[in-house]
Amino acid sequence: MLQTPAPSLQTPWKPADAGLARLWAALHQRCGGAADWPAFDGRVRAHLGRLRDELALLYGRRADFESFVVNLLEQAFASWRSRDAALKALDAQREGAPEWFQSQALLGGVCYVDLFAGDFAGVEARIPYFKELGLSYLHLMPPFKCPDPHSDGGYAVSSYREVNPRLGKIGDLRRLAARLREAGISLVLDFVFNHTADEHEWALAAAAGDPKYQDFFFIFPDRVEPDRYEYTLREIFPDEHPGAFSQLADGRWVWTTFHSYQWDLNYANPAVFSAMAGEMLFIANLGVEFLRMDAVAFIWKRLGTGCENLPEAHTLLRAYNALARIAAPSLLFKSEAIVHPDDVVKYIAPTECQVSYNPLQMALLWNSLATREVNLLQQALENRHALPAGTAWVNYVRSHDDIGWTFADEDAAQFGIKGFDHRQFLNRYYVNRFPGSFARGVPFQDNPATGDCRISGTCASLCGLEQGDPHAVARMLLLHGIALSAGGIPLIYLGDEIGMPNDPGYLQDPGKAGDSRWVHRPPRDPARDAQRDDPTTPVGRIYQGLRRLIATRAATPAFAGGRLIGFNTRNGSVLGYTRPCAAGSVLVLANFSEHAQAVQAEVLQAQPATADELVTGARMNLRAGLWLAPYQMLWLAVG
Ligand code: GLC
Ligand code: GLC
Repeated sequence: MLQTPAPSLQTPWKPADAGLARLWAALHQRCGGAADWPAFDGRVRAHLGRLRDELALLYGRRADFESFVVNLLEQAFASWRSRDAALKALDAQREGAPEWFQSQALLGGVCYVDLFAGDFAGVEARIPYFKELGLSYLHLMPPFKCPDPHSDGGYAVSSYREVNPRLGKIGDLRRLAARLREAGISLVLDFVFNHTADEHEWALAAAAGDPKYQDFFFIFPDRVEPDRYEYTLREIFPDEHPGAFSQLADGRWVWTTFHSYQWDLNYANPAVFSAMAGEMLFIANLGVEFLRMDAVAFIWKRLGTGCENLPEAHTLLRAYNALARIAAPSLLFKSEAIVHPDDVVKYIAPTECQVSYNPLQMALLWNSLATREVNLLQQALENRHALPAGTAWVNYVRSHDDIGWTFADEDAAQFGIKGFDHRQFLNRYYVNRFPGSFARGVPFQDNPATGDCRISGTCASLCGLEQGDPHAVARMLLLHGIALSAGGIPLIYLGDEIGMPNDPGYLQDPGKAGDSRWVHRPPRDPARDAQRDDPTTPVGRIYQGLRRLIATRAATPAFAGGRLIGFNTRNGSVLGYTRPCAAGSVLVLANFSEHAQAVQAEVLQAQPATADELVTGARMNLRAGLWLAPYQMLWLAVG
């Protein structure tokens, strides 16, 4: 159906903008004869202006700019032509319902293929489990070809077109994507586009001195330029190498923001943009519906800056977004920017990344558990939660990465909290260097020189399950309950739903030992899996509790979208917000302390006299005020 040209599209396009007209005419001359050109052409007409404008900001001064754009689109057309019919049908469906991902039934899960189920076939075999849990979005950690043993969990990609042979073949991944799609589950993969592995053929050619590929990376003959850059750079993985550069065997220096085997790509070179566009569209055509745009903050560098969150990083993303609209329209971008909250939101727009991790909410959930105070979290929900139409947060309790305390010092100062000191406290609290702490986390990138440190640990271990803390299960359900009810797409790290504890086993693995994030990436334990329906076990209580929350959310229209209004409970330990909805609003109250907490009747005066609690079905008399048990959360139907 899509292939049928609309009559208007068969007529030549004559936009008023002469530059656009030239680009289109050149492209039409090369591709216009193809049978499937008209459907593509419709999207070119809709998005070429935006694509050209964004690219012009980066490369417009070059004499060959126009032929660069035409070549890029010709490549995109070839990619579109090889796109599966099922994906083209999905494209049309999603273009007709662009808000589909705002549904309260959308729920994400994330896992490593090998650690979760061995290989692609193993993941496919667990589709019934995903359905049982209610997942409709599955993020598989990078499954591409990568160096062994050091690959940063797949985030060092040696080829974007080949998969890690231990996981299966590329055809297995394609098939898995189709099976997931048939089951109503969107596949999410990473676009690791800030860097390639040092074993990628481009990096190998650059190391061997090929000038074309040297220009793909930032390679310097000596320390002069690296020293100048490092003057203003932050260190990301100081445990592995200081600064941002690594030395090659021949003495040269290459830019490596993360590990020494992850070489940063140089997007000032348009050939890098085109080459990575090809890889992006290849991944899209595997059947990927969300691309997790890895490390977006770092993708553009300029001397004298921190080389994070530069305006060109946004331009690049918007250019890729426009290209995706043309050649893989159902593909959405998810931003991974774990930076200051003012910078996080700048990546979120229908024309840039439609969805984004919400690292602030994640970090503040843990902050509130440690302090028993909801001040910073309540403030974030009220001041930093609203997003533009057509976008959504991905709300999570923890990810495969560390927990970093990325709240804004300015926000904390409003409560008299000093950011630096408070982060020191949180780090001590979560690595069990604070008397009475329930948490058993492990430090990540502890940097005594700067005082910087982040936290590793599974949800269960950080909530106290390991040492039998009586409130551990309630804490886990509370954190997930906020992620499930605050709006956007909730994302569960698979394993947390069965309370997987920290796994020190990584210390025996030479590829993992130097990176404490592996402590919270345990292989799935079948024994725990088997307990998930047994309510007499902590595993069963976590799993059943979570499933009730998930089912309740899916049945409650107020949890769609992201609108939220803060509700002042006048109790420093009780978080409050309303999810407004014409079909029935929901008031969420959540106690972050191990003591029962009151919400007084007068605070609830504007609410109806009685309200049903959606998860338990209990009817509450709001005129009498409410008592919340330790770590209790209420989802009240307030009309
Ligand atoms: C992202 C990934 C992280 C990885 C880094 C480098 O932040 O989440 O796991 O180490 O990028 O690719
Ligand atoms: C990536 C890393 C994370 C780090 C962050 C810094 O997300 O995975 O560990 O905190 O970059 O911005």
